Amino acid sequence: MGKDKLRRFAAVKDYPNFFEPTIGEVSEMKGKWKEHFGNDHPITLELGCGKGEYSVGLAKNFPDRNFIGVDIKGSRMFIGATEALGNEMDNVAFCRTKIDFIQDSFAENEIDEIWLTFSDPQPKKPNKRLTSWRFIDKYRKLLKPGGIIHLKTDSDLLFEFTTEEIKEREYEPLLITWDLYNDLSDDIDQVTRDIFHIKTHYEKLFTERGSVIKYCKFKVS
Ligand SMILES: C[S@@+](CC[C@H](N)C(=O)[O-])C[C@H]1O[C@@H](n2cnc3c(N)ncnc32)[C@H](O)[C@@H]1O
Repeated sequence: MGKDKLRRFAAVKDYPNFFEPTIGEVSEMKGKWKEHFGNDHPITLELGCGKGEYSVGLAKNFPDRNFIGVDIKGSRMFIGATEALGNEMDNVAFCRTKIDFIQDSFAENEIDEIWLTFSDPQPKKPNKRLTSWRFIDKYRKLLKPGGIIHLKTDSDLLFEFTTEEIKEREYEPLLITWDLYNDLSDDIDQVTRDIFHIKTHYEKLFTERGSVIKYCKFKVS
């Protein structure tokens, strides 16, 4: 790890909005996130949040909801955690863990929605895709009945895989578009448009390279 990454990683560990459970052990935060936020508001997870642009952006748009960015890379989450602290946002937090162990950090029915933003397509390892059955089965347990999963991606491979999974596993599709920004129908309200226009680090990179952004949302219970 470079010097700056090490510095950020060390600094974020002391932040009040950053949590780092021991991987493989049950976190003391499991089932207690409402106590951290000090309210009963719905909780959304952003899995593989990187720098946390979606978590912070959504938290700005929805002050009456809580957001938690999850990633294994603490030095990236430092960026979002610093912005949230600087703006005195108390409805956003970050949790450093492997998504493979997500059930150790969040209790059954603790979560209302999940966002997957530009997840790695894992071309050679379908079981490692964050929309594979192995992961969806974990999310299903954390989500309240009727909880929604959102996926925003540049990857044709991941999107095709996910839409196939939706069909084969009989998840309930709510919206599927292969070209998000050219396909927003007029009846989509401004708040939803504002959400889609939050751009993550990877979205900016892929858009500059000419990638078309795809999006779907679906229910798994
Ligand atoms: C392509 S980046 C996208 C980051 C961010 N969402 C964005 O759009 O800029 C994928 C992120 O997912 C994280 N990630 C991938 N698999 C993970 C896993 N199993 N557990 C925790 N984090 C994971 C990586 O560390 C990385 O930050």
